[in-house]
Amino acid sequence: MPEKIIGFSKLSRDEKISWVSKNFLDNSNEFEDILNKYLNDDKDIQLIHNSLSENAISNFHLPYSISPNFLINHKNYCVPLVTEESSVVAALSNSSKFWYDRGGFKSKVISKIKTGQIHFKYNGNSENLEKFINDNEHRLIGSTNRITKKMRERGGGISKIRLINKSAELKSYYQLHLDFETIDSMGANFINSCLEIISKEFHQLLNDSPQFKESEKKIEVIMSILSNYTPDCIVESSLECKISDLGNIDGMSSEEFAFRFKNAFDIADIDINRAVTHNKGIMNGVDAVLISTGNDFRAVEAGIHAFASRKGKYKSLSECTIIDNIFKISLRIPLSVGTVGGITDVHPMVKLSLKLLNSPTSDDLMKIICSVGLAQNFAAVKSLVTTGIQKGHMKMHLINLLIKQNATKDQIDKSEEYFKDKEINSKSVKDFLDQN
Ligand code: MEV
Repeated sequence: MPEKIIGFSKLSRDEKISWVSKNFLDNSNEFEDILNKYLNDDKDIQLIHNSLSENAISNFHLPYSISPNFLINHKNYCVPLVTEESSVVAALSNSSKFWYDRGGFKSKVISKIKTGQIHFKYNGNSENLEKFINDNEHRLIGSTNRITKKMRERGGGISKIRLINKSAELKSYYQLHLDFETIDSMGANFINSCLEIISKEFHQLLNDSPQFKESEKKIEVIMSILSNYTPDCIVESSLECKISDLGNIDGMSSEEFAFRFKNAFDIADIDINRAVTHNKGIMNGVDAVLISTGNDFRAVEAGIHAFASRKGKYKSLSECTIIDNIFKISLRIPLSVGTVGGITDVHPMVKLSLKLLNSPTSDDLMKIICSVGLAQNFAAVKSLVTTGIQKGHMKMHLINLLIKQNATKDQIDKSEEYFKDKEINSKSVKDFLDQN
């Protein structure tokens, strides 16, 4: 077993590579060869990548794809997507094309408040403390004036501080719960900096307050951090049309399709096993845009899944209704995203994605991401209730096999008919090519 290493981060790139190679990869050259192939030839770009993470020794590429025809609130978007899952982009493009002719997506931001928390222990009278927080709310918020100036000029900042008494659940435990509006930035750094200043000011003000006993003044701040649960930072997208306008779908009448589709959504609403997979389909779209636009997909994932459980049971995030012959699906999710700050100002591909989306505000980006999530959900459930999901997957698999075997474009086109009812494997592909 290799020995523990101290100071790995201080080693040069070459030293890091040879240490890893020697200790974990039998000293093979393959490691370094592959790492080098993925370095960027442009030194400036490589420097940007190196600066994004500690111990970076190469880059990890994922496909950067485009899905056109996203009509959202009557605006046509071409959406950049980063995903390794082969059928996601094809499914999205089908979905956006399908709904383009049926009015497209309607989307709106419902609310945009983010939360920061100061977690602390207090052994005293909770009503006194509550009064103290209410009386000092402006002073506490004012202590951050220097760092909130620019945000306030743009209409954001801290709007509220509340005391939350959690001592019934955990001995002596209280929170200061702060509401933030961070305009076009995701705001994690901004929120965390404000919280740290306020927690110091809180300590200080309490110490200087004669109405508290000495023992009550000894609060212990455990931590100050934003919450990635953002149930007050919500966006909603919907799609709707007359059932008859759905048309015939994969040999199924529009009526049969609409009701089968609704059944699938209803199942996801009551069954956790299905709900998780149903929501995973939504996240296929959501994450692909989050990554292409340089947003924190881990934060959004954590927040969205907690939101899916907000009624005490994990449920589907989207909904399908059929009322008066109108087929409607909608998706409502918490989304804390930014279009300025973080890597949005640094990463060339992220900057390109934002330009492609017409330099969106964070509200615009919330609407785009939610609509892409809904489009992906529609595409997945449409396949599931009609042809089954494997048909599309197998088609991609077949095309990959044909490409590997140097098939012509004409052979690839013919293959669709030939393989309709046949099993696809390397041998059957070879037989097809021999015959065609
Ligand atoms: C696969 O990545 C996503 C699906 O499983 C989603 C769903 O079942 O709704 C197809």
